[in-house]
Amino acid sequence: APGPDAAGRLAGLTMTISAGGTREPLDPVRFLGNRSSGKQGVALALAARDAGAKVRFLAAHMEVPAPDGVEVVLVETALELRAAALHAAADSDVVIMAAAVADFRPADVSGTKIKKRDDAADPVIALVRNPDILQELVEVRDAASHGQLIIGFAAETGDAEGDVLEYAQAKLRRKGCDLLVVNHVGRDLVFGQDTNSVVILSRTGSEPQEASGSKSDVAAAVIDRISVELNRVVP
Ligand code: CTP
Ligand code: CA
Repeated sequence: APGPDAAGRLAGLTMTISAGGTREPLDPVRFLGNRSSGKQGVALALAARDAGAKVRFLAAHMEVPAPDGVEVVLVETALELRAAALHAAADSDVVIMAAAVADFRPADVSGTKIKKRDDAADPVIALVRNPDILQELVEVRDAASHGQLIIGFAAETGDAEGDVLEYAQAKLRRKGCDLLVVNHVGRDLVFGQDTNSVVILSRTGSEPQEASGSKSDVAAAVIDRISVELNRVVP
């Protein structure tokens, strides 16, 4: 059911939101996956829906159910998500890539279950790069030169060569999206948790905006920022 904001700041807009983690098959029973729960994407979809937007929800593997009141497209792999995203984005005003997309997939998918054998060496899994969906969405948008707003999420860890924000600024420039919502990940931090702490970076170089709290608090902050970017509210 529509929530409190149904009259809504985002009324009349179509938003595509991807969520969850892709799974890349190795054989009929095995895959390479990641720890994304889909919770942040679900929170975003609910906030967008409640702000009056029509939501296309592209769900890779999630540990929580997809939200009600949105159009749900189930996907498994990065290549499936890419096809669904390009299709859904074609007539969307806003695209949010909250899904954790596998950077690589197994080069070969065995049609039958991989068996262990005593007369052969243990298998080595060769990987190939998946396409960068976010970057492709930006390229398509720029070629069509329409005013679509594209938002990425970045899971970053700092290391000896740079801190989280430095890596995130570089990622924002590389991807060319309008906003990048950055969170600091560790094994037990963020993935699967109910709370989140993010910084929203903008391509236009405005001050980084911090948001934290529950995943719905973060979603509300992202949706507020989208409303501002689209001039749906006075900042
Ligand atoms: N993304 C995507 N397609 C991919 C990989 C990532 O669309 N093949 C999107 C994610 O959905 C997210 C953003 O790009 O919105 C950033 O993802 P992230 O994994 O942080 O960036 P990468 O470019 O993959 O960089 P890294 O090597 O740090 O993983
Ligand atoms: Ca990645």
